[in-house]
Amino acid sequence: MDSIQIDGGIPLQGQVKIQGSKNAALPILAATILVRGNSLIENCPKIADVFQMQALLTHLGCKISWEGNSLKVDASGVNGSRMPSEEVKAMRSSISLLGALLARTSEAVMDFPGGCVIGARPIDIHLDALKQMGVVFEEKEDVLYARTTGLEGSRISLRFPSVGATENILLAAVLAKGDTWIQNAAREPEVEALCEFLAHTGAWIEGIGTDTLHVRGVSRLTETKFRIPSDRIVAGTYLTGCMIAGGSVLLKDAPVSQMEAVLRAARSMGVQIQPVDEGLFVQTPDTLLSPGHLKTAVYPGFPTDMQSPFLAAMTVAGGESILTEVIFENRFRIVEPLRKMGADIRVSGSDVLIKGGSCLRGAEVEARELRGGAALVMAALGAVGHTTVTGSGFIYRGYENIGRDLRELGARVYSV
Ligand code: EPZ
Repeated sequence: MDSIQIDGGIPLQGQVKIQGSKNAALPILAATILVRGNSLIENCPKIADVFQMQALLTHLGCKISWEGNSLKVDASGVNGSRMPSEEVKAMRSSISLLGALLARTSEAVMDFPGGCVIGARPIDIHLDALKQMGVVFEEKEDVLYARTTGLEGSRISLRFPSVGATENILLAAVLAKGDTWIQNAAREPEVEALCEFLAHTGAWIEGIGTDTLHVRGVSRLTETKFRIPSDRIVAGTYLTGCMIAGGSVLLKDAPVSQMEAVLRAARSMGVQIQPVDEGLFVQTPDTLLSPGHLKTAVYPGFPTDMQSPFLAAMTVAGGESILTEVIFENRFRIVEPLRKMGADIRVSGSDVLIKGGSCLRGAEVEARELRGGAALVMAALGAVGHTTVTGSGFIYRGYENIGRDLRELGARVYSV
């Protein structure tokens, strides 16, 4: 399955269940190696990045099996600390295993995780913090060697509230000697979900959900089961699909409380949004309004992962608008394909200037990364005619089955 085919111009109707969160599942799966026994991870999304993490954990000695939508991880037999190159190169977020491996085996060896098309994505914040906790790093021929004679709690102040660095420090701190404080910690809901999982296993953490986390090391973590929360970015993506194609949909299990900035932006464009017991009911006006100036920010601001899907929606909204990306340095990869579909937009530094009011037309376009690829599918839903989105492998990294989900909303979408 390398491409997704869409016949656009059909307003969406119906309801779709939102899958478990990729960005909560990945660090929580990394955390399972801290438990010398079983962890049952419920509502785990069946996506490529989870399968990659499953392969990594198996390589390190875990026994893993799917039980429906739950992943059972037996980490009692973890015996490795060398992460296999292919999986690490294929998935940058394998970096979240660094802290966990150091806590479990006192060492870790991994290929330096490269950047990707959205940015260089350095790991200096991760390394500086772990050094403070007693980790020694060496780098030889693009391989990172990490070891410790025992992780020590420390007072850590992050220069930037990095999600991955906050998660790595948490995974290193829960079994460390003494107390760790993380100032300027990331507050994303996925960090909160990781803290909740760790607390379920007996970790001692205070300040969960705030930008100051206090962890007191304990001697061991115990077996538990934990349900992955729904994916706020998948819910937001399908919200933009409805904004672009028109219609009204129910996003079942959408994590409404985690989507305030996204819902505020959609409402500013004239979308009727109604939280209901089952999730989120969305009704799109005949014409979308311009949101004016949208700017990405760290949580609880407007999420960078929603930038590309909203850019697609802003191209069809009436009136001019500006979208500013401040988190990643190269996250405007879909500007060219959107222009090919008829959008009147151009990049100026960290801004995209949108003329709006475009009537998108079907085209053959290429996905170059996960959220941009999904945004092109959303744009195609509202385009006149047929669109082919190639490079769909990027999309399956984070969306279980975008074609199935959109067909449930009445869209004419299929994969080949
Ligand atoms: C997580 O990436 C998410 N990935 C990303 O989602 C998300 O876009 C990002 O957080 C921001 O919310 C996962 O959770 C698996 P960061 P992460 O560390 O941890 C710079 C998706 O589409 N930085 O908060 O890598 C970095 O270059 C993905 O699901 C440093 O300079 O994000 C970037 O500009 C894409 N040094 C900024 O901080 C460091 O040591 C944000 O990075 C670390 C980060």
